[in-house]
Amino acid sequence: MGRLSLLCALALLSACDTAQSMTGGDGRDGELFNGLFSIFLIVAGAVYALVVAFLAWAWFRERGKRQDGQRDKGGVRREPLLRIALIGWAGFIALGLAGLTAASYFTDRSMAHSVPGGEPVLSVEIVANQWWWDVRYHFHDSSKNIRTANELHLPVGVPATIALRSNDVIHSFWVPNLAGKQDLIPGYRTDIVLVPGRIGAYRGQCAEFCGLQHAHMALDVTVESKADFAAWMARQAAPAPAPATPLARAGYDYVMNRECSACHAIAGTPASGQVGPDLTHLAGRKSIGAGTLPMTRGHLYAWVADPQGPKPGNNMPSIGLEAAELHAVVAYLETLK
Ligand code: CUA
Repeated sequence: MGRLSLLCALALLSACDTAQSMTGGDGRDGELFNGLFSIFLIVAGAVYALVVAFLAWAWFRERGKRQDGQRDKGGVRREPLLRIALIGWAGFIALGLAGLTAASYFTDRSMAHSVPGGEPVLSVEIVANQWWWDVRYHFHDSSKNIRTANELHLPVGVPATIALRSNDVIHSFWVPNLAGKQDLIPGYRTDIVLVPGRIGAYRGQCAEFCGLQHAHMALDVTVESKADFAAWMARQAAPAPAPATPLARAGYDYVMNRECSACHAIAGTPASGQVGPDLTHLAGRKSIGAGTLPMTRGHLYAWVADPQGPKPGNNMPSIGLEAAELHAVVAYLETLK
């Protein structure tokens, strides 16, 4: 039984080392948090060990006295050694608390100030909605601005300022591998600076309960080389390709002329709705519905046929497409790479 629970604990610990982990230290703030956590763990661990050792010593001592028929005549004053030990103990606690305070303060200052490499070079705006992330990259040349949803790509080592807003309720932006949490508050802009230190795929998650589908409010974060990031930006900046097959063409006509384009925008087409996620490069994303379903053809069918099935309560209504319309719409959406 003991071995089994040990194995389970090891399995759980190893499962922590994944795309959504506070122990990864894959970004600057993540590393700072790890350092602070280690200091707290060591100091608190030492205090705990000393308390347990003292209790054990007192228990054995008392038991020894009882066996010898002695009674404790009491008082620390009569035992100089014990008195010195207690004074030392109080001093150790005071020093430990002062050390933890100082470590917290300096970690906090490091997070607030030092953006390595000077000014942030990447400016991203993320707007939270129930229950998805609207992601916009802003550049000096505004014709290069791009918009995507539920995914964030960052070049490794480049500081990115993320301006955070909310369209409805309080959400919380949290990519634990990279940094701590930052709330998104309606009517108020907050900021967080991310400095990704390691190439990888991470999972962000809304960390403030925001309604029925709070748990289905994930963000796919990709940290990549500068060259890969530039290539991704170039793909995102391109308008959606024109439909090449008759089926995709039929889907395009449906999307443009029926309900879809009232809520969704597709760059390079008349669809310019702002209520729902931008669909320009939908099929190139990793997931559907902010991490609700992995991006596959089957899941596209499932989502378009009945968005309330996999994610009840979200703002996309079930439209009730005929089978032929569903095939056409999915065929068109699949071209949006
Ligand atoms: Cu958004 Cu929880």
